[in-house]
Amino acid sequence: MLNISLLKKVPALQKYYWPPVNQFEEFSTNFSEFLKLGCQKQQHYLVELRNQEEDLYNQFLHNSLAQIYAYWLGYHDSPCYLQVDEEIEIKLCSAKFCLETELIKNGLTIEPIKQKLSQSDTANYLNTLAINNPGIDHPLFDYLQTAPKEVLLRFLLHEVMRNEVVDDEVSLLVSGLQGAFKMVAASNLWDECGRGKLSNAHTYWLRRLLEAINGWQELATYRQVSPWFSKITSNIFMMLLTRPGYKLAAYGYFLMSESAVAPHFQKILAGLDRVGLIQEDIKIYFDAHLKIDKYHGQELVNAIGYQKPDLTQPEIDLILLGTHLYIAGATMQYDRMLPELSSQKLTGMKRRNNEHRGLLSWNDLNWQVSPSPILNDEVNSVDCP
Ligand SMILES: [Fe+2]
Ligand SMILES: [Fe+2]
Repeated sequence: MLNISLLKKVPALQKYYWPPVNQFEEFSTNFSEFLKLGCQKQQHYLVELRNQEEDLYNQFLHNSLAQIYAYWLGYHDSPCYLQVDEEIEIKLCSAKFCLETELIKNGLTIEPIKQKLSQSDTANYLNTLAINNPGIDHPLFDYLQTAPKEVLLRFLLHEVMRNEVVDDEVSLLVSGLQGAFKMVAASNLWDECGRGKLSNAHTYWLRRLLEAINGWQELATYRQVSPWFSKITSNIFMMLLTRPGYKLAAYGYFLMSESAVAPHFQKILAGLDRVGLIQEDIKIYFDAHLKIDKYHGQELVNAIGYQKPDLTQPEIDLILLGTHLYIAGATMQYDRMLPELSSQKLTGMKRRNNEHRGLLSWNDLNWQVSPSPILNDEVNSVDCP
């Protein structure tokens, strides 16, 4: 039961709209054109694009899916924020199926998946895979330990964009699960929501992070030019979460992403320490998850062993598909982020005026970290299992 008195104490940064997305204005030009095509022509268009340039193909695929998922989640950046528009929604849903089929069939390199594993063998196998896979050991995170401050600040924006709606993602995961799976997913959601305390909601820690790095406007600007590959992992997860047939694949995907958090955040924190980004407001999101998510990952794995009724072979195969989709998506994203981050000269560039929106590049943002600690609400303790 929620202690309702907790909600009376509203922490200062709660006044801001969340997620910190921009208002919807219009679809990108090529996605808008794509929506006008019928299903067959859309498929044909994707085949043509796939056979041309890999980056153009991936860029279209992921930027289009990101616009569809913004619609689906229904925040300010949705074309249907506070309104219903059947004409456009039918088109968006039809394009969603077409693009998702393309993504899973042709847009990812999925390593061979173990066949005919029993339920207990699956739990044992994932116990190992969850802590030992190419998504976890990726060199991007070694680089971040040694990266310059400007690169780390840029990476923090990626982390906010990746994690700004994790509570929504977990809430989508909860529906359709049962038994032990529902218990661990619901428990995870409760943690995401700060166990009823606004200032302990995980997204509130992201608010503190943005405030501390003066990042609200920077994020709004950068969001318009962020590269397509920063959307890969979010897009795959949203695809799995919003297609009933992939429900258990979403579970497997989440199991892997939660297990990756602690090893990744340990290296991110080492990088932040090294360049002096040591304010509690900046670090709390990472510090807290370093403690919490090793339990979250382990719970999700252990629940496979406990699940009743016994899992059928198709159910097990779907969970395993999700784990491999995570590895495919994470490595694809990190493979591209590493050269992009490490090759950019992010220092000394002045932010351009808003009239240049849409033409901004990686170098168009200028950083300044808040010189003093801010808003130490009452959030100084993190409850851990
Ligand atoms: Fe979280
Ligand atoms: Fe978590």
